Amino acid sequence: MVPALGHESVVAVIGAGAMGTGIAQVATQAGHPVRLFDTRSGAAARAVSDIRVSLAKLAAKGKIDATAAGAAGDRLSVADSTSDLADASLVVEAIVERLDVKTELFLEIERIVRDDCILASNTSSISITSIAAGLRRPQRVVGLHFFNPAPLMALVEVVSGLSTDPVVAEAAYQTAKAWGKTPVHARSTPGFIVNRVARPFYAEGLRLLSEGAADVETIDAVMREAGGFRMGPFELMDLIGNDVNYAVTCSVFDAYYGDPRFAPSVIQQELVNAGHLGRKSGRGFYDYSLGAKGASQSSEPPAALVGRVTVWTSNALGAALASRLRHAGVQVDERRVAHSDGRTATVDHTVMALTDGRSATQRAADMQHEALVLHDVVLDPVKSGRIAIAVADRCSPSGRQAATAMLQAAGFVVSRLDDVPGMAVMRTVAMLANEAMEVVHHQVCDAVSADLAMCKGVNYPRGPLAWADEIGPRHVLRVLDHLALAYGEDRYRASALMRRRVAGRQPLLG
Ligand code: NAI
Repeated sequence: MVPALGHESVVAVIGAGAMGTGIAQVATQAGHPVRLFDTRSGAAARAVSDIRVSLAKLAAKGKIDATAAGAAGDRLSVADSTSDLADASLVVEAIVERLDVKTELFLEIERIVRDDCILASNTSSISITSIAAGLRRPQRVVGLHFFNPAPLMALVEVVSGLSTDPVVAEAAYQTAKAWGKTPVHARSTPGFIVNRVARPFYAEGLRLLSEGAADVETIDAVMREAGGFRMGPFELMDLIGNDVNYAVTCSVFDAYYGDPRFAPSVIQQELVNAGHLGRKSGRGFYDYSLGAKGASQSSEPPAALVGRVTVWTSNALGAALASRLRHAGVQVDERRVAHSDGRTATVDHTVMALTDGRSATQRAADMQHEALVLHDVVLDPVKSGRIAIAVADRCSPSGRQAATAMLQAAGFVVSRLDDVPGMAVMRTVAMLANEAMEVVHHQVCDAVSADLAMCKGVNYPRGPLAWADEIGPRHVLRVLDHLALAYGEDRYRASALMRRRVAGRQPLLG
């Protein structure tokens, strides 16, 4: 086994901005002597003093030992020039995101450090292969992609370029692990794992908005309270900055030669054009100006439950729904064997079913049953506070009210989406799982790493593949196939590996 770097090994961090400062803190807390270098006068010294303040705050809160905090602060020093980095065993570069500047820096560093020094880049979008090309020893270049803020975010993508020596990648992996991080190996491909697999989270939200499924507040509420994501797509894009998020989308789209799966949204482009960049500019999808009205999501008005309720407990939501209804004192007729049309429940003649990627209107036509209300998937059917529904165009208002009343009686706040195929959570999860499968299929990383990366890099409540396995891979594939049919767009094409896993009756996480 390749060991992690020893504590005595010197770590050099080049670039004392947001990321370099965080990485230096992580390395010094792990016990390494750390040298910080930045070409901007005073930047490295400021970073050292900022880190010491952060360490002191952690000690004051009792999160770390005061002596350890002091020692970690003492292990930091400012390098006045790159020649001060000669004894480094690991150099982590976190400078401006430009290939020419990074290449020039690494050419200089290579002349200074020992031959066994690992050269790592924190780049989030530049090919590690390109950064290494032209160096005397490209095999020692690896990506160490931390997430912001580095001291708090667990994930580190350890990225191998074409020339990266597997021993170097493993040493970087073990070192990140020894630093208390959750490293995952990834092959250098545009977006690596997280910035690629996460694209549909934003893209499907933008598509839903563009198609008038609901307003931003309602879509965000559904993704948070039914999907279990910490933030909805719009509040998250506002936090990241629409300019940054749009630029990443464009860069991944271009890097994959215009693959429609990554197509940017004109809605977001318009926001960028208008200067509505999000929180930092005071306005994005939401208005952050002083006195602006707080966002409120739309929910269905309370409806009274009348009629006979039957619930199919063969699926997770059905089982939870029956128990929630019984708990609320509603009499429920339970069916244990799945119905052939996949229904979850009925209230008299109104049928409720989990979305399978068809619009409710299309499915009602296929079933020849007009009173159809679809529901979205929820992360935790037992505890979830919100659920989204979509109503078939020919379903009567009383049918819609019956389904709403039943869900409300079970304790759900009900958000109605316009009748878009695949709804919100299901469509997003299906597309996230599809992209995760593509990443696995194209040998960027293994399935476990793909899921882990999404949980630890962007705090997803569940890995997309584990989630798809829970919904049922066959159902998720059906959702994608129905979306592809509904839109006729290549964007929704299902991953060949997912299709193979379903045919082979294997889980996606496998
Ligand atoms: P930043 O702009 O906060 O800091 C960059 C620092 O590098 C500045 O202090 C600048 O003076 C310095 N610098 C520029 N050229 C230099 C050179 N030739 N030699 C030494 N110092 C130089 O940037 P940030 O956000 O810290 O990003 C740094 C790197 O980390 C980029 O490659 C970025 O893509 C990547 N990254 C950024 C994340 C983020 O959320 N900000 C997340 C993950 C990766």
